[in-house]
Amino acid sequence: MDFEKICKERYSVRSFSSKPVEDEKIAKILEMVRLSPTARNNQPYEILYAKTPEAIEKLKVARDGFFGAPLVFLICSIDEKRWHNRQSGREFTLQDIGIVATTLMYACTEVGLGSVYVCAFDPIKAKEGLNLDGITPECMMVVGYPSDDAKPSQMHLDRRNIEEFAKEIK
Ligand SMILES: Cc1cc2nc3c(=O)[nH]c(=O)nc-3n(C[C@H](O)[C@H](O)[C@H](O)COP(=O)(O)O)c2cc1C
Repeated sequence: MDFEKICKERYSVRSFSSKPVEDEKIAKILEMVRLSPTARNNQPYEILYAKTPEAIEKLKVARDGFFGAPLVFLICSIDEKRWHNRQSGREFTLQDIGIVATTLMYACTEVGLGSVYVCAFDPIKAKEGLNLDGITPECMMVVGYPSDDAKPSQMHLDRRNIEEFAKEIK
């Protein structure tokens, strides 16, 4: 699929079929994620994934449910790799995580899967519930085959016009 088509086809899926995601597709997604750029090539991320009902149940410590999805990625930052630019004092870890998560999201579309990016969960409960040491849960990607009745939400259709967000510097 070309990238324009991927951008046009993707929407946040919030209703999934229970059909499991094939391991080959998970591997393909992770290979695409591996190529993500990060600031200073720091790669400050670790990705956990749950692909069985038992494993997904463990993630429910942090959030009520996952729209019936058979696969959930938990994207974490690596605490000791948090990095500040010395001049600006700015930290780029969350930008790196956003790029990794976005790559993962579009990789799902590429392999024919639906996804929804999820930040509404309790990262402390996720960290404690999964006994995570040295990593901090930042976001989730909930993934699977869309159910027959899955459809884009109103928010998907509600986008600003280009003139409202893009300004040429003259
Ligand atoms: C950083 C981020 C966090 C999000 N968190 C959630 C979430 O917790 N729950 C949810 O249902 N959707 C979540 N979304 C999905 C957005 O609501 C969705 O992308 C937006 O409304 C546009 O709709 P679309 O993805 O269908 O185009 C999140 C998206 C992003 C980028």
